[in-house]
Amino acid sequence: MRCCLLRSPPICQVKRRFSTNSSSKLQFSKSYESIPGPRGPFGLGNLYKYLPIVGSYTWLELHKAGHDKYREYGPIVKETMVPGQDIVWLYDPQDIATLLNCKDYPLRRSHLALAKYRTDRPHIYRSAGLLPTNGAEWWRLRSELQKEISVPKNVRSFLLEIDEVTKEFLDYLPKSETVDVLPKLARLNLELTCLVTFGERLNSFSPEEQAENSRSSKLMWAAETTNSNILPTDQGLGLWRHYETGPYKKLRKAQEYMESVAVDLVSQKLAFFKDTSDEVTESPCSLSRTSLVEQYLKNPNLDLNDVVGMAADLLLAGVDTTSYTTAFALYHISRHPEVQRRLHEESCKVLPSKCSPLLAESLNSGIPFTRACLKEVFRLNPISVGVGRILTKDMVFSGYLVPKDTVVVTQNMVACRLEQNFEKPLIFNPDRWLRETKGSINPYLVLPFGHGMRSCIARRLAEQNILTLLLRLIRNFEIEWKGDDEPMDVITLLINKPSKPVTIELRERPQ
Ligand code: HEM
Repeated sequence: MRCCLLRSPPICQVKRRFSTNSSSKLQFSKSYESIPGPRGPFGLGNLYKYLPIVGSYTWLELHKAGHDKYREYGPIVKETMVPGQDIVWLYDPQDIATLLNCKDYPLRRSHLALAKYRTDRPHIYRSAGLLPTNGAEWWRLRSELQKEISVPKNVRSFLLEIDEVTKEFLDYLPKSETVDVLPKLARLNLELTCLVTFGERLNSFSPEEQAENSRSSKLMWAAETTNSNILPTDQGLGLWRHYETGPYKKLRKAQEYMESVAVDLVSQKLAFFKDTSDEVTESPCSLSRTSLVEQYLKNPNLDLNDVVGMAADLLLAGVDTTSYTTAFALYHISRHPEVQRRLHEESCKVLPSKCSPLLAESLNSGIPFTRACLKEVFRLNPISVGVGRILTKDMVFSGYLVPKDTVVVTQNMVACRLEQNFEKPLIFNPDRWLRETKGSINPYLVLPFGHGMRSCIARRLAEQNILTLLLRLIRNFEIEWKGDDEPMDVITLLINKPSKPVTIELRERPQ
């Protein structure tokens, strides 16, 4: 196989590369045209390689395509998808740092069909929402929405209720029998997302809600269907802009349902505000503090359509992301008995008895090993291959000039599985992250939530949900892997999903 790491660039293209000054970096860099990578036959694009039957890649295994391109072309790859539409892939953590530390409003090219769906419905949405919107409108939304959901103190104020729902979830999980845990985790994370967002319980664990056409089952379907039709509509010719293609139709139907629930629950809150006098400020809800939607409704800088859009974004982004990550965590833990033993030991320190409350201080500083396990899960199984940006100015990566407006995507997942970045990279080893045993690791390799001002708005909330579940589960149960011995792979449905069922058995531990 050809290896461009060993190939020298043509002398005429290397003008000079020793300057530290950024403008001279631009001036003396190699040309954009000379970035190695596939252009497709006659320069017509590489999209055919992702087609079924004729192509060797698939959208479902983007990490494998990413690895192949790295082996063939090196740490920076320019892939022409269709003429005029390139993606530059970055594997080098220094390049990843350069991209994500850019100070302008970070632009992302994703969720394009979702943006069309929402902008076609101005009576419901004021904008396309946080996920697809860019520029000043994105910042208007982000700056108003992030305080309630990102500030550590606010996140911790949900802990008590999150812990209660998690306990209820553990009662609901079958014991002493093989269980496919992923669909169950989706119920937990839907329940938690609705609790925090609307202050409402969906009662997703009840027998009625487990029916196929219940509200919670349809919401889980709507989130996964929307997510899995984002990549097929983001890539390619965008025919859905002109007529309703199959993937667009699926996305539309899923969004119509999700939107109906968001509108319904936001309207209930609003009706409550209208019906009550000024002295009553809190609505009756399952939370001891006000839900996100209530706080957003009280914000004079947001209008009702902004709030509906945010509620829909949270329903869309809150379920599969956290469920898949937790499923990968349980896969690794159940296959590593010594890791499980140490986790159990740590969980008993912060939860001395089965029903002790989980305290904020314990989460903050009492669980270094549990946190190390989660970090290791994110290293091996991040929910996305990397992070995408549209360049807001000309930039230099690995000595090549990449022009403004180019789509650049980081390949963190592949980089985290390279020997040069981690010793024995495919081994699950949480000790890499403990202060006492940690070596020097580039901080731009493991970035599961992205980085910078556009990183995941709910990072702390998601981590809190996952850690609470891991501590409670391992404190009270021993888990055993019941699947086969073939290593777990991932399927990319925008979000990386376990490639096969995560089957485990839970056995109750003595008090
Ligand atoms: C393990 C769980 C999660 C992971 C790994 C994750 C990861 C990410 C990533 C990689 C991004 C893009 C960051 C970037 O472009 O730099 C993102 C954005 C986002 N996430 Fe998460 N996420 C998780 C859970 C959640 C949850 C629970 C919610 C909501 C309840 C959520 C809501 C969002 C939203 C709204 C954005 C868009 C932010 C913006 O564009 O300003 N995420 N997430």
